[in-house]
Amino acid sequence: MSFQAEAIRPHFPSLNMPAADGSLPIFLDNPAGTQVPLSVMQAVTQYYLTMNANSGGVFATSRRNDEMAGRTREAMADFLNASSASEIVIGPNMTSLSFSLSRSIARTLAPGDEIVLTRMDHDANVAPWLLIARENDLQVKWVDINTSDCTLDMGSLEEALSERVKVVATVQASNAVGTVNPIQQIAGMARAVGALHIVDAVQSAPHLPIDVQEMGCDFLLCSSYKFYGPHLGIMWGRQDLLDSLPAYKVRPAKDAAPNRWENGTPSYETWNGLLACLEYWESLGADFGDAILPQNDGAGRRWNMKRGVVAVRDYERQLVSALIDGLCAIPGVSIAGITDSARFNQRVPTVSMVKEGHKPDEIARYLADNHVYVWSGNYYAMEIMQRLNRPDGMVRIGIGQYNTMDEISKLLNFLDAL
Ligand SMILES: Cc1ncc(COP(=O)(O)O)c(C=O)c1O
Repeated sequence: MSFQAEAIRPHFPSLNMPAADGSLPIFLDNPAGTQVPLSVMQAVTQYYLTMNANSGGVFATSRRNDEMAGRTREAMADFLNASSASEIVIGPNMTSLSFSLSRSIARTLAPGDEIVLTRMDHDANVAPWLLIARENDLQVKWVDINTSDCTLDMGSLEEALSERVKVVATVQASNAVGTVNPIQQIAGMARAVGALHIVDAVQSAPHLPIDVQEMGCDFLLCSSYKFYGPHLGIMWGRQDLLDSLPAYKVRPAKDAAPNRWENGTPSYETWNGLLACLEYWESLGADFGDAILPQNDGAGRRWNMKRGVVAVRDYERQLVSALIDGLCAIPGVSIAGITDSARFNQRVPTVSMVKEGHKPDEIARYLADNHVYVWSGNYYAMEIMQRLNRPDGMVRIGIGQYNTMDEISKLLNFLDAL
């Protein structure tokens, strides 16, 4: 069976929470954060009932806590295809992990070393690097975008790379315009000059199967609240780097990776929620994956998660196709990014648009008044908005797995009527 949004919507109770006038919200704010299945909420409650304790104790609740933490790491390792659970660092959010990583790497760099950043990235993969550059006299080289289709200018990446470059930080999928970058190719280019490649996968993880071994990068960061889980950030890193880089930690904390990267007591209740979220993805593969990847290409859980993501990806492509066609038919609307359906494998279903005569904030408010939730502004993707000459930002419509064709039609009707 192919993916059916109607079949999974009952898992998400918040989709059915009516407004005062009885209307149901249409959640198209998914790139900013997704709704969660009931099983995730129940797992958080279950944690408090049965395993609420700090790590490392000798008694039952602490042991259950630690056993759960191990299982969460293992499930996350399968989701990303990490070679081991000890390559999975879990923190409060992607931005905090990005700051920890950049500060740690900074301690290995010398004045004059270079860092390559892109004009497409969310500031969480820009500002931490700009700050260490300023503090350590490092040079920053920028990779530009092609403004016509909002793809990365690979020529400018080529130009920026040299033996002096020590870090290349790139986003896998843009949170603003949805472009998916050729990460494997970029990882190869970074490796060829001996640089570390850091990938921001926050916006790809909900839409595309991720395989860190295939990608060839050195670090990859994402956030589970963008893929139907609780508010947490996850960092995968190559084991040798997690072991050898100078992490910032308190002295009594464990010195072995991944613990040395996890400062203080984690919000373990959300780890149990993350485990339930990953089990949810696994169930999607079992329910909808047959038509897509019939051959088991690896361990059962990883295979099911991957099939689940691919089923969702294919479904979301149908929706984004209808969305983009519909937007293109509305007078005065323009879209930043890829609009050619033959190239939808180069984008996630996140679409930024503007409508002539209306400020982005005004459009978002008008839609909110009609119970359609979208984002407006720069969504922290400052560089690309500057590059696209959009001082007021744009309106972002971000499709998730529970959205339906009917919801897209309603949105388009509202935009047409504006
Ligand atoms: C592409 C991208 N990177 C990083 C972040 C920051 O993630 P977090 O909120 O987990 O720090 C976001 C958040 O929207 C994002 O979209």
